[in-house]
Formats: sequence, structure tokens, C-alpha cells
Amino acid sequence: MSQSSQTLPFLPWNRPSIGDEEIAEVTDTLRSGWLTHGPKAALFEQAVRDALGVADAFAVSSCTAALHLAFLSASIGTGDEVITPSLTFCAAPNALLQTGARPVFVDVEPVTYNIDPQAAEAAITERTKAIVVMHYGGHPCDLRAFRKLADDHGLLLIEDAAHALHASRDGQRAGSVGDLAVFSFYANKVMTTGEGGMLVGRGELVQRARLLGRHGIDSSIWQRHGTHSTADYEVIMPGLKYVMPDVTAAIGVQQFRKLPAFTARRAGIAAAYTRELAGLPGLHVPTVLPDVEHGWFLYSLFIGPGAPLTRDQVAEHLRDQYKIATSQHFRPVHTLQIYSGSAVAPLPVTECAAAQQLSLPCYPAMTDPQITQVITAIRALWER
Ligand SMILES: Cc1ncc(COP(=O)(O)O)c(C=O)c1O
Repeated sequence: MSQSSQTLPFLPWNRPSIGDEEIAEVTDTLRSGWLTHGPKAALFEQAVRDALGVADAFAVSSCTAALHLAFLSASIGTGDEVITPSLTFCAAPNALLQTGARPVFVDVEPVTYNIDPQAAEAAITERTKAIVVMHYGGHPCDLRAFRKLADDHGLLLIEDAAHALHASRDGQRAGSVGDLAVFSFYANKVMTTGEGGMLVGRGELVQRARLLGRHGIDSSIWQRHGTHSTADYEVIMPGLKYVMPDVTAAIGVQQFRKLPAFTARRAGIAAAYTRELAGLPGLHVPTVLPDVEHGWFLYSLFIGPGAPLTRDQVAEHLRDQYKIATSQHFRPVHTLQIYSGSAVAPLPVTECAAAQQLSLPCYPAMTDPQITQVITAIRALWER
């Protein structure tokens, strides 16, 4: 351990970048007298809709809420099978179970760790209703292949783009190709509202989700406010309550404006890591395919045979000796307690990734000395 590392403050795996602009926008909302889903949510929705070129967008309380609404609005339910990677967060599979549908886990490809189109095609049965792709770490999956696969088989394509706002592949923005797509604004994401999410996609599906997300009521409280009685409404479907409040949307409006700069900074950090770490024995840096704009939610290392330490030892040394937090993405869903035994096919790439993957700190609030701190620590571990 170097002398200086003893005095370094702990480097968290993530820290949001909140500035005076977000604080001013929230203050404006608090002073406005309108706190729940209203004009700020509409502004945020419009900005995302225009940037993606999608028909509609609905700001909600979390990406998990957006997933649940996506499945409900697409009438996914009991008896349906939905193809999804296991190398993902539990949110989509959990929401599928809530609808009565069954997630069918398939393997990922070894270069991008995105859902493998061939594995997905092999898993299609007469019960398959949809494919949920996930853009792992911010690297978009093969959107053209999945759009074609869904169209050829009459399936819905839903993008879990929780990691990939501002990412693109072959000129197509992540979140703009699926029948529906969802984004997360959870505290550690590429932009944040603390908690929050967005559902985008085909007009009629998002409109149905909008009704389902406000109790199934036929008009919004913002529409009723000031024009007619707030009790003058009808419930036209059994909905839930998933809307994003304006206090939260205010943060989103400002964060979304900063997203291109955030992504550029993340890309710069990723480039520095790759330049300084590529070539260390047994350590694999992320591959970015041609014509991809990576969202860089994750900077994923894979630590395998030939490395002087295992992935877990590297994580431990970084934490204990160098005061650097890391993370792992993900514990494969089929290995989690309630999903055990649910994988019908072997998932070797997923399981290999689960054993070898390590996410380094990579976020705009990092300083240049902190980036050097991470690089120096990893190189030192390899040189011991
Ligand atoms: C791939 C993926 N989907 C969905 C979610 C759920 O997002 P939220 O916390 O906004 O509900 C996450 C959260 O980390 C995620 O990584």
C-alpha cells in the first residue's frame, strides 16, 4: 500500500452531479403551488420525446413502475412468455411475474453482454408475447436484429433502456426502436431525479399506460384543476398510481439538459481507463462496437484466467487498501432465490460474467486525481 492511499478519502462507486440549476428549478416548483404531476412533468416528457423522436412519453415514479405499466398496457399477462436476459436487474422479471406472465431467460453475447439475438430466437414458442432487451451498461443491443426478430414473429419489442439514455447504435437511439421503452432516473443512473422513470413508445400504448398510471382516471388532475370540478372524472380501467411528481420532474428537466455533457465526461473517463488498463494480463476492458455511442452507465472490467487476483480479491483490495468502491452487475436473475430453477437453457456467458465482472467508478463528479487514483491502484495490484 502506498503511503498516500492511507490518507485518501473513500471514493464512492457513484455520486450524482446536482448543481444550482436543479436547485433553482425545484425551488421554482415548490413556490409554484403545484407539486404533483403537472407542467414540469410535461416539460420533461416533451424534452425526452423530442430527443428520441418517439410518439409519446410518460414520466413515472420509477423505471420499475414504467416496466409494470409497459407490460400492463401491452396486455401481457397470465399464460404469456416473455424472453429476457438473466444478466440484468430483477425489475423487469419481477414486474412480469406481477402480471402473471413468465420470464424466459436467455444468454447474452460475450462481447457486449447484451441479450443474444440467436438465443432469443431459439427461445420463441407459441406462447411468446414479447422480447424485453436490456442495453447492458449503456451499450445498446443489436436493435436492428431485435426489431426484425419481433416483426418476423409478431412479438412486441420492449427496451429496458435503464442504462442507456443518450446511447445509440447504427444511428438509432436506444429507446426509440421498441414498441415501448423505459428509462431509470434512480440516484446512480446517467442522469437522476432521485427516484424516477420514463415510459416512451407507440402513442396508443403510452396513452393506455398514462391512464393506468393515474388510477385509470380519464383525465389528469392538472387538466381538471382550474377548469372544472376535481371530482368530475370517470374511472375507465383498474389503474395504479405511478405518476412522477413535478418536484421530481423539475430535477429531471435540468439533468436532461446536462446529459450530453455528462455522457461526454463519462466517455472521457472510460477512454482513460481503457488506455491505461488494456493489456494487463487476464483483464478485459469493455469493447465498443463500431457505430455505437455508449451511454457509459457502467465501465465493466472482466477479470479472468491469467490475472494475478480473482475479481473478488481485486474488489476487496481496492476497497480495503485503496479506498475505492466498486460494484458488480449483475447477480444473474435466474440465480436469485425466487427464480432458482427457472432457467430452462444453460446460460454460460451470463454465469461467466457473474464471476468475472467488476464495475469501476465512472461518473461526471469524479475529479482527474480520482481517475488516476483508480488507474494507479489497479496497475499496482497487477504489479505486486
Ligand atoms: C436494467 C435495469 N432495469 C430497471 C431498473 C430499475 O430502475 P428503478 O430503480 O428506477 O426502478 C434498474 C435499476 O438499477 C436496472 O438496472
